[in-house]
Amino acid sequence: MLDHLKALPPDPILGILAAYKLDTNPRKIDLGIGVYRDESGETPMLESVVRAEKIMIAKQTSKTYLGPPGVTGFNSAISRLIFGEALAESAGDRIVTVQTPGGTGALRVAADLVQTANPGSTVWMSDPTWGNHLAIFPAAGLKNSSYPYFDKASNALRFDDMMAALALRGPQDTVLFHACCHNPCGVSPTPEQWEKITDLAAERGFLPLVDMAYQGFENSLEEDNLAVRLFSEKCPELIVASSCSKNFAVYRDRVGAISILTKRAEQSAAVETVIHSLTRKNYSMPPAHGPAVIDIILHDAGLESLWREEVKSMRQRINGLRGELVRKIAEQGIERDFSFLQRQSGMFSFMGLEVSEVRALRDQFSIYTVDSARVNIASLNEGNMDYFVQSLASVLSSSGH
Ligand SMILES: Cc1ncc(COP(=O)(O)O)c(C=O)c1O
Repeated sequence: MLDHLKALPPDPILGILAAYKLDTNPRKIDLGIGVYRDESGETPMLESVVRAEKIMIAKQTSKTYLGPPGVTGFNSAISRLIFGEALAESAGDRIVTVQTPGGTGALRVAADLVQTANPGSTVWMSDPTWGNHLAIFPAAGLKNSSYPYFDKASNALRFDDMMAALALRGPQDTVLFHACCHNPCGVSPTPEQWEKITDLAAERGFLPLVDMAYQGFENSLEEDNLAVRLFSEKCPELIVASSCSKNFAVYRDRVGAISILTKRAEQSAAVETVIHSLTRKNYSMPPAHGPAVIDIILHDAGLESLWREEVKSMRQRINGLRGELVRKIAEQGIERDFSFLQRQSGMFSFMGLEVSEVRALRDQFSIYTVDSARVNIASLNEGNMDYFVQSLASVLSSSGH
């Protein structure tokens, strides 16, 4: 039965990583892979997580199954973070949050839920979007389509085009949004634009699905959930797929959550039973480790404030790097305008390079990124930024830009 299956081409990012690992140039830089890195190029565990893990191990007496909702203390605490304290208070009984294996797991459960509610319907996503979005929804039986989002010429949001496209959507449609730190382009709507987008959602009646994988990496934990708050206030229904991979740096522990808001508490309770039946036939029971650790952090004032400081320092480092990069590019005498990097947020931006320029960076300077020239800004540091900027200048001058 399996004999006819052919090997698939490697994922472009993993392919780049493999080539990077084989490269012996001591100055090599990997700008491809999407994890946070500190000044020494590492992806460390957070101190708050390390401390909470010790507490968790000391307290743990059994590894029996958790039951379909998972770690309930995690679910309620993460729900408060995702929706904000005020909404969690006022709309709390209309919100259901269930832990999932990572943000990807949350998106897949969301896809299964939409497929159950409205089989074969269309999920509209920004052009461009995270590659995995394109795969997850069709895998559940849904259709993909896109709305305009990023303008390559200006490196900014195509707001009017986006609004015109969304004005054509209606109650049969699901529309996927990135809450903040858009992956791959780094461009977010302004708060005023979010007001307009969420007004339009309420008017047109489409179902908003918000992917929040980087809460705390743009402005603050409180500000980065603006889209979730506005949709919740204006729309009768909302799905949020959130991830703790980045803001708790627990990537491999696979921690995320799906949150659903409906019109009535009874309806949310009904939807929760549907979620449990969907996960039961997928992975049966959720994993305990990561959510149990985060449950401890979010129920301990000292650990929570330590964690908040750690999120802040990751955010400040990325924002600082963006400013530093723009400054050094200008100092290097590169004429092309890269100032947009400072107006974008999160770990990712498109550098706006031609594929030939991306390849030249790789082949001549051992600087690795994907052909779309999406770079992970957090991979830069004091030790490699000058080399990156000098290499960029060299490649741009030989390509005549
Ligand atoms: C936009 C977006 N959504 C969701 C995720 C899911 O992350 P994870 O499944 O690792 O929690 C990611 C991770 O890179 C992402 O960039």
